[in-house]
Amino acid sequence: MKILVIGSGGREHALIWKIAQSKKVAKIFCAPGNPGIAEIAECVNIKADDIEELKAFAIKEGIDLTVVGPEKPLTMGIVNEFEKAGLKIFGPSKRAAEVEGSKAFSKELMQKYNIPTAAYKTFDNADEAKNYAEKHHPPVVVKADGLAAGKGVFICPTMDEAFLAIDIIMNQKAFGDAGNRVVVEEFLIGEEASFLAFTDGEDVLPLASAQDHKRVYDNDEGPNTGGMGAYSPAPIITPSMQKRVMDEIMIPTVRAMKSEGRIFKGVLYAGLMITKKKAKVLEFNARFGDPETQPILMRMRTDIVDVFTAVIEGRLKDIKLEWDKRTAVCVVMASEGYPGDYEKGKVITGLDNLKDMKDVFVFHAGTSLKDGKLLTNGGRVLGVTALGRGIKTAIKNVYTAVEKIDWDGVHYRRDIGAKGVSSR
Ligand code: AMP
Ligand code: GLY
Repeated sequence: MKILVIGSGGREHALIWKIAQSKKVAKIFCAPGNPGIAEIAECVNIKADDIEELKAFAIKEGIDLTVVGPEKPLTMGIVNEFEKAGLKIFGPSKRAAEVEGSKAFSKELMQKYNIPTAAYKTFDNADEAKNYAEKHHPPVVVKADGLAAGKGVFICPTMDEAFLAIDIIMNQKAFGDAGNRVVVEEFLIGEEASFLAFTDGEDVLPLASAQDHKRVYDNDEGPNTGGMGAYSPAPIITPSMQKRVMDEIMIPTVRAMKSEGRIFKGVLYAGLMITKKKAKVLEFNARFGDPETQPILMRMRTDIVDVFTAVIEGRLKDIKLEWDKRTAVCVVMASEGYPGDYEKGKVITGLDNLKDMKDVFVFHAGTSLKDGKLLTNGGRVLGVTALGRGIKTAIKNVYTAVEKIDWDGVHYRRDIGAKGVSSR
């Protein structure tokens, strides 16, 4: 089979690393890809949201299966366009991807179908949003309705900050049309976990559990990022919690999407807030998580191409997922200043020192290659991922590898996985 993967981050590198292990695969392309991906796939210079060019490429090359990494092409309708052209593609349709693309839609869906989530209201008028916020004790949470690259959520410890967040989103239009509507919601307390499941619109098959680390600094301090590291499995998702999440959240959501005429096919990702006994949905994503995909796929034993094909053909019930029993930990190495402004073009050193390390893989996210030198080219630069027997060993293994890599201003969290140790 010829496979095309769309995207250029650590998630896409992990997807391609896994796809490349399938005996069914003859050739992998990635658009646009990165230098790490280029070692296992042919990178083509087409942007992830240039649907027309991607479609023309897939037709020209006779691509048998396309896998979409990021949310933007999904919410723009890449799946509909490819399917119209008779191309096989893994991911939800435009209307199904709205479960991520519009927080107002996903909250309304959850409310209508009794899927547990924070109490909320949606507004298209800033003054009304402020009036509603004012009736609640801070902290309150203010979210831009549309896609805002992970920056549209404000946790507001005071009412002044809530008003400011509403102004930034609705009046200053910091996220453009994504801020035409705003969701004001209750602040939830607990521990977060990422719950991903494959679905063909009928059956729902959970992936191994994972936990992301959203804040930039140790002990969950500093601003939110795309994710500074992740590990799998997450002990907080006990077998009974997994059953609860499936019965109360994942299966009802897939059913709800079907009832709404928005059959969801692909990976449904629920960002959860877990308290002692309950799980509530913080948000849905219509795609694989980044960096959760890196540790999850390092543990996946099943041929992922079989799973993609089964989802597309509505045969997910025939698939059983098998997992490596070891723990995988991924530490994101980032540029100084991320998630704010950062410089690019720093020379990355030390990767050669990792060549002989077993069960360690370095997924590239923001890198570039110039005159044979590997340079930083983004906020999140590398996702170093290691397996180990038990979480403590996996943590030791991953940091042994991380410490061999360096560049001017490198920043990473030193406590990835620590929550998994303390909750054991
Ligand atoms: P979201 O993009 O909606 O997942 O929000 C990004 C991050 O903001 C989440 O991962 C949480 O850390 C935090 N967050 C979002 N909604 C809430 C909430 N209702 N209560 C507490 N924290 C939240
Ligand atoms: N790691 C968070 C996300 O993929 O949205």
